Amino acid sequence: MPITFKKLSPVFMGEVSPIDLRQVHDRETLETLRAGMDEFGVLVFRNQQFTNEEQLEFAQRFDGTLHAKTSVAVLGKNRFGNEALTDISNVNEKGEILAVDDRRRTSTVSNRLWHTDASFEDPAGRYSMLSARVLPPVRADTEFADMRAAYDALDEETRDSLVELKVHHSIVYSRSVLGFEFSDSERDRLKGAVHPLVRTLPGSGRKSLYLASHAAHVVDWPVPEGRLLLRDLIEHATQREFTYRHEWQPFDFVIWDNRATMHRARPFDDKKYRRELRRTTTLDLPLPVTA
Ligand code: OGA
Ligand code: MN
Repeated sequence: MPITFKKLSPVFMGEVSPIDLRQVHDRETLETLRAGMDEFGVLVFRNQQFTNEEQLEFAQRFDGTLHAKTSVAVLGKNRFGNEALTDISNVNEKGEILAVDDRRRTSTVSNRLWHTDASFEDPAGRYSMLSARVLPPVRADTEFADMRAAYDALDEETRDSLVELKVHHSIVYSRSVLGFEFSDSERDRLKGAVHPLVRTLPGSGRKSLYLASHAAHVVDWPVPEGRLLLRDLIEHATQREFTYRHEWQPFDFVIWDNRATMHRARPFDDKKYRRELRRTTTLDLPLPVTA
C-alpha cells in the first residue's frame, strides 16, 4: 500500500500511514519521507514500536549524524549509556519520579518555553525525533508552530528589516529566564552560537524565522532592543493559526524540522505521573550533493 500524508492543520503537520519505520531502509521511501518533512515541517507516525537501538538506527538512516553533546549531558550521565538518545522524561535511572529540586528536572522544565532544539550550538539540530514510551493518564501534549507560515504572514517592510540580522542563541540565557543557573564550569562548555534570523530552507526554498527561547540577543544591536524584537517575533509566530497541539498516544513517533518550526511541552502534574519519551536529533550539517 502506498504511504499517504494526511494534513493535520491548515498550514503544516502531516500524519503518515501505513508505515513501520523499522522496516524502512530503501532510498526511495526515505526520500519520500524527507520530501514530506520539507512540505509539512512535522510528521506524526502512530504505533512505531522502536527499541532504543532501533530508534538510533532509524535516525541515522534518515539524516546521518546524530547530536550527542546535549545540554542534559552537561548535567550528568545518560541512563541509556548513549548521549545520542536524549532522555525526555521526569524519572531517574531507577524509574522514580525526579524530586522537585532535581537539577535535570529544573533544567528540562524549560522545554515548556517555545524553542528549537540545540539552536545554541553550531551545527544546531536539524531533525528531532521523539518516541513516546510511557505516558501519563492526563494530557501532556507537545505544541508546534510553523515558522515558515509565520514568516509568510509578515509584511514586506518587516521582512526586509529582518533579512540581514544574526542572533546569538544561548542555553545559559534561556535557562536563566526560568531561574536555573549553570555552574561556572558548565557555562564554559555552553558558549552559545550565532545563527541568521531568517533562513531559506534548502528542500522547499521557503523562508522561515529561526527563533527560540535560547535566542538571547541580536548581534550588533543593544541587548534590550534585540530582546524586544525577538519577543515580538515569537509572539507573532506562535499565534493560534500557526500552531498545532499534538496529543500523544503510546509509541507515537514525531519528527520535526527545527529549521522550520518551534515547539514546546505543555504542563501536566509531573510530580505525580511518569512521562517518558526518547529523543534523537540530527545535526544541521550541509547535505551531501547527490547526482
Ligand atoms: C524535546 C522537547 C517537548 C515535550 O524533546 O526536545 O522539547 O513535550 N519535548 O516533551
Ligand atoms: Mn525540544
